[in-house]
Amino acid sequence: MSNPFSTAVGILGVDLGATLCKLALPSEDGIRTAQIPTADFDAILASIREWAPQRVAATGGGGARLTAEMDGLPVTNVPEFSAWARGAPLLAEHGGEKLPDRYLLVSLGTGTSVLSVIDEVAQRVGGSALGGGTLLGLGKLLLRIDSFADLAALAERGDRRSVDLLVGDIYSGPGDSPLPRDLNAAHFAKLDSELPEDIAHALMCLVGENIALICGELARAQGAREIVYCGSTFAENPALESILDQVSGFYSCQARFLEDGAFCGAVGAAALAAV
Ligand SMILES: Nc1ncnc2c1ncn2[C@@H]1O[C@H](COP(=O)(O)OP(=O)(O)OP(=O)(O)O)[C@@H](O)[C@H]1O
Ligand SMILES: [Mg+2]
Repeated sequence: MSNPFSTAVGILGVDLGATLCKLALPSEDGIRTAQIPTADFDAILASIREWAPQRVAATGGGGARLTAEMDGLPVTNVPEFSAWARGAPLLAEHGGEKLPDRYLLVSLGTGTSVLSVIDEVAQRVGGSALGGGTLLGLGKLLLRIDSFADLAALAERGDRRSVDLLVGDIYSGPGDSPLPRDLNAAHFAKLDSELPEDIAHALMCLVGENIALICGELARAQGAREIVYCGSTFAENPALESILDQVSGFYSCQARFLEDGAFCGAVGAAALAAV
């Protein structure tokens, strides 16, 4: 199979987000990747120097910061949404998949942005301040958990149904219910369980379900049948994938998760800087 990143060999894509900096360096064999907390700017600069690329393509909210720090190494600044729209089909191709001509591309990062992509041209059509940052913040507050990996693993072992109030809890009699009984009626409104794993699962569903509802409506408005979810929030996080999958089905949409989707912006920046 041909290497979809071949034109960008030697160009280091750097996506400096609010929480994590993603590095992606295309090579003849594939891509080398790394994630470093954005707050650790010295470590980011050290990695860039150590990887010794020919040049740098920077994107994300903090991308412009790099230009001043690269003493001599050329830096191209790439608009974030263009980078994402370029990166997604390349990552899909790398994984042996193909994206349709029209789809929604969702960056579920610290916050959430939703792009409508038509023939690889992206337009931001919506977003939400619910995102991975919400998970980290509420995870700390409710469960005293600092590590994202620990929170995601805990959520996978939990069951939100004893925390959230379901339609079936309200329509509990034998008669007809106007809505499916296992539908969530109100996040955190039952609280029959305060087990950390159940709270973690309910938290993952609070963010995932609402993002999926927003994206389902936007997909309907845009005439898209596939929603491609990317961002570091999907790292080892099957509980989040599962809720997005489920809710997308209500809209007759397919939720897709790209391997290495966290690096969508970094890969796309490198590819766009190559042309
Ligand atoms: N090692 C980690 N450290 C911190 N957060 C992590 C880690 N792994 C996954 N996450 C999750 O990923 C989220 C960040 O995702 P991502 O890197 O896509 O966002 P970002 O680019 O930093 O933010 P934005 O795009 O909103 O500026 C965090 O909020 C957290 O929920
Ligand atoms: Mg980002």
